Amino acid sequence: MSIKLLDVSFGYDSYTHLFYHLNLTIPMCCWVTIIGDCGSGKTTLAKLIAGILTPVSGDIIFSWGDGNSQKPEFGYLFQNPDDQFVHFNIEREVAFSLENVGIARDEMFPRVEESLKNANLWNRRNDSPNNLSGGEKQRLALAGMLITEPKVLILDEPTSFLDIIAQAELYKVTKALLDEKVSIIWITQEPNEINMSDYVVKLERGKVSHCGKSADYVRRYFPRRNSKFEK
Ligand SMILES: Nc1ncnc2c1ncn2[C@@H]1O[C@H](COP(=O)(O)OP(=O)(O)O)[C@@H](O)[C@H]1O
Ligand SMILES: [Mg+2]
Repeated sequence: MSIKLLDVSFGYDSYTHLFYHLNLTIPMCCWVTIIGDCGSGKTTLAKLIAGILTPVSGDIIFSWGDGNSQKPEFGYLFQNPDDQFVHFNIEREVAFSLENVGIARDEMFPRVEESLKNANLWNRRNDSPNNLSGGEKQRLALAGMLITEPKVLILDEPTSFLDIIAQAELYKVTKALLDEKVSIIWITQEPNEINMSDYVVKLERGKVSHCGKSADYVRRYFPRRNSKFEK
């Protein structure tokens, strides 16, 4: 299972390319890290993959190994969870995700309840998302996403607004999703987070400067740190 970018070019204005004839294969059904400095193109690459942006030229091909090349369902967790809330009520917010994918009303309520209980937010259901802490907002955003059962989940610098405890919790929740056969694309600027992943793509100013197994990357760039981290 993989996502293949073939000769993909993209720019935000017609004169400059951020990506120019980019070729890249990203394996799926594992945890993939996209790492790079601010402005290197991580978010743009993720949005191209998810179909939120369209390449100027080139193709993005999904292959599931059985001849199936259908585009999977994506979930996209934005860097700042505030960017994805549209309602002033937590329960409505999660129900809205289901409305978007056309789930019937009578099916909705039990699914919303289960999802909010899983996210440990059920007792806050009548509150506004604005009153949640950073970690709780992230959990709500994730609940809204997972309820639609995406095949690929993109998390865009998900830990940048979180304290250490909320970060650890998000690592745990994400790891558990792998067991549910959700593929993870984790965007970060934090090299330590590579240790949790199977595969890493490093971007530098719109170019792929490294891609391969995370273990090889850690061995090559952080030889002395290797033993300190556990997957
Ligand atoms: N909506 C936009 N309009 C114009 N330029 C943009 C837009 N979004 C990003 N860029 C530019 O594209 C480049 C890559 O941005 P981005 O993909 O957000 O990088 P990263 O996520 O790695 O920080 C940057 O130079 C950024 O300024
Ligand atoms: Mg970004």
